[in-house]
Amino acid sequence: MVIPVRGEVNYDVIVDRGALSYVGEIFSLGRKVLVVTDDGVPTRYAQQVLSAAKNGYLITLKSGEENKNFEQYKRVLEALCDNAFTRTDCVVAVGGGVVGDLAGFCAATYMRGIDFYNVPTTLLAQLDSSVGGKTAIDFMGYKNCVGAFYPPQKVLIDPDVLDTLDDRQFYSGLVEAVKMSATYDADLFGFIEKCSDARRDAQEIIERAVSIKRDVTERDPKEKGERKVLNFGHTIGHAIESIAMPKLLHGECVGLGMLAVSKGEVRERIESVLRKYSLPVSYEINESEIIDLVRHDKKASGDEVSLVTVPSIGSYEIKKVKIDRIFG
Ligand SMILES: NC(=O)c1ccc[n+]([C@@H]2O[C@H](COP(=O)([O-])OP(=O)(O)OC[C@H]3O[C@@H](n4cnc5c(N)ncnc54)[C@H](O)[C@@H]3O)[C@@H](O)[C@H]2O)c1
Repeated sequence: MVIPVRGEVNYDVIVDRGALSYVGEIFSLGRKVLVVTDDGVPTRYAQQVLSAAKNGYLITLKSGEENKNFEQYKRVLEALCDNAFTRTDCVVAVGGGVVGDLAGFCAATYMRGIDFYNVPTTLLAQLDSSVGGKTAIDFMGYKNCVGAFYPPQKVLIDPDVLDTLDDRQFYSGLVEAVKMSATYDADLFGFIEKCSDARRDAQEIIERAVSIKRDVTERDPKEKGERKVLNFGHTIGHAIESIAMPKLLHGECVGLGMLAVSKGEVRERIESVLRKYSLPVSYEINESEIIDLVRHDKKASGDEVSLVTVPSIGSYEIKKVKIDRIFG
């Protein structure tokens, strides 16, 4: 399936099992190509891109959020300079959200911007980083502190690469699809609720969830209004993440964050989906510590924060609430 994304820059997201085997037909690789990956991503994915490139170079970063930093950003820029990349050359990210964010930011800033292609290889990155054009590195301890909106030329999503992703990473990524369907698409939520094998059904889930994100970001590219809905579960989820890292993964924290702001039948259905995929549904937290962290979140303004809630599956509300009332 081709999902066209329209905005200041138009690009296509291609979702197809086995697409990596014909990457040369999708991306324009008849030039210098810097493939950026990390040491946790099976090397064969980057090799497939390299072998389709006319003049390919590889840089393998250290994996992990702690490496989405200035030093690795500098390493990639040095590789571009050392190999005399010009504005007509390109960068291809092959990896999870860490590689995509960092490589995208390098492409955005090298010579004021060179072509960027993204091959997200985790379910989280396929669902969430593939659309929206956000690129960034962490800086001085602040997540995504330095970055740019820089849309890719194309995104290639090959669900087959998820075969090498462990279950915990896979189901943590699936939480993003639970989030998008809970707010926008009751039918997709029902599909995830009922499906007996999410890995087998990954392509359909990805296509439908990416289409939701595409629609939302097209209507609100710079997160001025509606795009805030994608933060469902994130306000409290991020606070839990900063306490529970590295014990819990991002998606696991978002799942807990969704539960914290949901009630009644909505809460029950989200909880049963999380349980179905062995995701955590409770975590020992100190509410006042969470409230304190939300107060310092960049999305807070004064003593209020925009909170996304789901009154019934497939719908949402965004309301300003006093930070000390986020738990209702
Ligand atoms: N730009 C955006 O819109 C956006 C959206 C959501 C998240 N993000 C960012 O994404 C990052 C998190 O991304 P993530 O969850 O993908 O983490 P990640 O990039 O750290 O990947 C998780 C782990 O999986 C490994 N891996 C990747 N692909 C694999 C594969 N196919 N098989 C086996 N192992 C594989 C990686 O080496 C890594 O060890 C965060 O930095 C977050 O800020 C960005």
